[in-house]
Amino acid sequence: MLYKEWFSHRLLVIMLVVALLSGSATPVLCSEGPAEVAAAPKHITLTWTDDTRTTQTITWKTAVTSSNGQVQYVEATADGSFFGNVKTVAAKAELFSTDLGDMTIHSVTLTGLKPGIHYLYRVGYGAEWSEVRSFATAAINVPEFKFLVFGDSQSDNYDIWHSVLYQAYEANLDAVFLTNVGDLVEVGQQDCAQWDAWFDAAQQVIGTIPIMPLTGNHETYTPVWGERSMPTMFTAQFKLPNNGPEDLVGQVYSFDYGNVHFVMLDSQEREEGRFVPDMLERQQAWLEKDLAITDKPWKIVFFHRPPYHSKSASENESIRLTFVPVLDRYHVDIVFNGHEHVYARTYSLSNDAMVDRPDKGTIYITAGRSGTKANPNICSNDWHEAFYNPVDEPNYITVKIIGDLLTVKAFKQSGALIDSWSIDKTK
Ligand SMILES: [Fe+2]
Repeated sequence: MLYKEWFSHRLLVIMLVVALLSGSATPVLCSEGPAEVAAAPKHITLTWTDDTRTTQTITWKTAVTSSNGQVQYVEATADGSFFGNVKTVAAKAELFSTDLGDMTIHSVTLTGLKPGIHYLYRVGYGAEWSEVRSFATAAINVPEFKFLVFGDSQSDNYDIWHSVLYQAYEANLDAVFLTNVGDLVEVGQQDCAQWDAWFDAAQQVIGTIPIMPLTGNHETYTPVWGERSMPTMFTAQFKLPNNGPEDLVGQVYSFDYGNVHFVMLDSQEREEGRFVPDMLERQQAWLEKDLAITDKPWKIVFFHRPPYHSKSASENESIRLTFVPVLDRYHVDIVFNGHEHVYARTYSLSNDAMVDRPDKGTIYITAGRSGTKANPNICSNDWHEAFYNPVDEPNYITVKIIGDLLTVKAFKQSGALIDSWSIDKTK
């Protein structure tokens, strides 16, 4: 990295740390009523909908009266100033109707960006602008990178999600994106107060590095007990690649970063099967094509319900029978799951049997929890090589790829190491 780029990066990191320490990022739970929706931009979120090297998607919310929105951005300089060749792009505006009233969701995908560059940006319109933030594009050649994985964040309150996310990011400022394996909130199709609290708790971090989340069963829950829906509040708020199968676009997708191909699937057949009856078979066919055409040496897949579950957890037979044969055939390296709120790592598995080398099988990781809900009665199963039930404090996972070496580490929120392991493709 050139000194100028390094200095710029450090300056941006310092800006973030100052914001964290000053408490400006303290989550604020929203009160009830439409009057809570402010005219100023809120919930500024980075995702990717296209090439991670040359595009950046930015989404935010305002009051419904603010139908105009813009992103202004400029290449970061050593002094961090937001001047010079600042470009302005108009946003797309969409109505977002919730139990707290209507809002407008604004989104922009910046295109034609330079790979491997830090940019400064702000969002807003007229007299209402956000603070200046930063994002970085992926380089053409990525010698190494790190990303963060968080288990279910559904909570009674989102202070825990805030603290584990911020402590994980402060300890891993070199992470280039993060993901959450589903069940972000408790009642995904109703409770905008929960979504508000979730986004407020994640601000600064998801406005600085992209989040590439997936859905869980709770994203389908409605105010009517037992009634389920497609996760439309999830897909409205997170702008994600639209390369998934029909009727599952925005919740099933794939993307590349560096030498890794990432795939996000939807395991909510019990909840969404009534709306898309062949949703598993549809994903199976799509996954087959998706994995067949990638030339990336590493393949990592995410879906919410684990096919290799813990004891006392319900079996997910249809998920295992539909997804696992394709994962085996294309030798996916790692699958991340959620749902059980425990950290669990299987042996290398292929065709439902243990194999002696990672290059012959797939390792399945259940990610743990980043919210308040723990399951103290769950314990390990025969196929687990490592298991930890995070009843004492929440946890997170780091994944670092250096060429042919991939290292996964699981940490408690406080930083204590739970598990560490690697796959080396040269051996
Ligand atoms: Fe779940």
